Amino acid sequence: MDVKGHDPPMNPFTPSTLASLAHTHGTPLWVYDTATIERQIANLRQFDVIRFAQKANSNTHILKLMKRLGVMVDSVSLGEIERALAAGFTPGVHQGHAEIVFTADLLDRATLARVAELGVPVNCGSIDMLDQLGAVSPGHPVWLRINPGFGHGHSNKTNTGGEHSKHGIWHADLPLACERVRANGLTLMGIHMHIGSGVDYAHLQEVCGAMVKLVETVQAQGMDLAAISAGGGLSIPYQADAPTIDTAHYFSLWDAARTQIATLLGHPVTLEIEPGRYLVAESGVLVAEVRATKQMGRNPFVMVDAGFSDLMRPSMYGAFHGMEIIHADGTPATGTPQDTVVGGPLCESGDVFTQGEGGVVLQRALPPAQVGDLLVLHDTGAYGASMSSNYNTRPLIPEVLVEDGQPRLIRRRQTVAELLALEAV
Ligand code: LLP
Repeated sequence: MDVKGHDPPMNPFTPSTLASLAHTHGTPLWVYDTATIERQIANLRQFDVIRFAQKANSNTHILKLMKRLGVMVDSVSLGEIERALAAGFTPGVHQGHAEIVFTADLLDRATLARVAELGVPVNCGSIDMLDQLGAVSPGHPVWLRINPGFGHGHSNKTNTGGEHSKHGIWHADLPLACERVRANGLTLMGIHMHIGSGVDYAHLQEVCGAMVKLVETVQAQGMDLAAISAGGGLSIPYQADAPTIDTAHYFSLWDAARTQIATLLGHPVTLEIEPGRYLVAESGVLVAEVRATKQMGRNPFVMVDAGFSDLMRPSMYGAFHGMEIIHADGTPATGTPQDTVVGGPLCESGDVFTQGEGGVVLQRALPPAQVGDLLVLHDTGAYGASMSSNYNTRPLIPEVLVEDGQPRLIRRRQTVAELLALEAV
């Protein structure tokens, strides 16, 4: 069996902090670090607008932190819009800026009514959306999300460009989209591209060049715009030897595109970036308790009380998360690492945290673990809690945010009674 991955990268917490939090709140448990989020935001300050793709972590306390740090937000559902409002973001457009933008490929009826009521700009991923918005909300502010015909992702499931992707308005349809914007009396704010999670740095110039061409097309239609968005997709080093992003270089390429566009249009243009993972992934860990160990033929298994109902990324994408074992007393496990398979509690074979794409079970070199030890899964602040489910009728688990050494419970554990209550009809 293959062993995948290398030494786990650092996590923001000491073993004793995590053991103490596990003792207080029980396991499984999410823990996030404020300082890491602040550091990641600081790395992107050159962009005019940092717009957090809240799908990565939509806890209202994380959103409040973003708001406090001057970060705006991208919502992709009615629920996410309500979360943004609950966190204190203001709807509508003020001095050319919108704190909340709604990005989607379709508008369900309830969301259409709500964005129209609130005046939340809609980043339209289909031409039908333009017609539907125009019918109920004349003058509504819109972005056009364009699929440039190519994309890139850390997995096929996170590639959002090209002709196999459902996302965005096809680039060749941009003139038609402009015509529908005009015919519906909508207000064009900007052009947006998000071609996938896991930016392909080798082809970045091509991506920026595509944006310039798109704006040329808009201009050829006799229209103007005030902003462009580079989308998200910036990765983080999930593995020790993964390349880290040179954000200054990344900015400089987009800034050059923006300068070209500003020259073209004859006025300044706002440059937005829309990261999810980059801002929050490294801030978070998932803490689980080892509840069983067993040998299955040649494979030592460590069974923990968190499953893919909590952290779906390994099962969904074969994603790698660094792991460490700590003892319940807060000391790190130090035994000689052995190749181990880590499984969860769900009644499903794919509930394994050590696996590659396509569901192939892998091993991970971990110090020997005993029942009662804690397993810490690193870099789970993005697409962890936000992708959790109630599969196997497992309640959602608590979230703790640590700021200046002070832990704060930002979501309590759900109860089975709450799940059953939904069915008391
Ligand atoms: N903007 C748009 C329009 C998006 O669709 C996404 C992600 C982002 C920004 C943020 O992408 P990021 O910077 O986080 O890569 N669940 C997957 C990721 C799916 C992302 C979908 N869209 C994962 O766990 O890797």
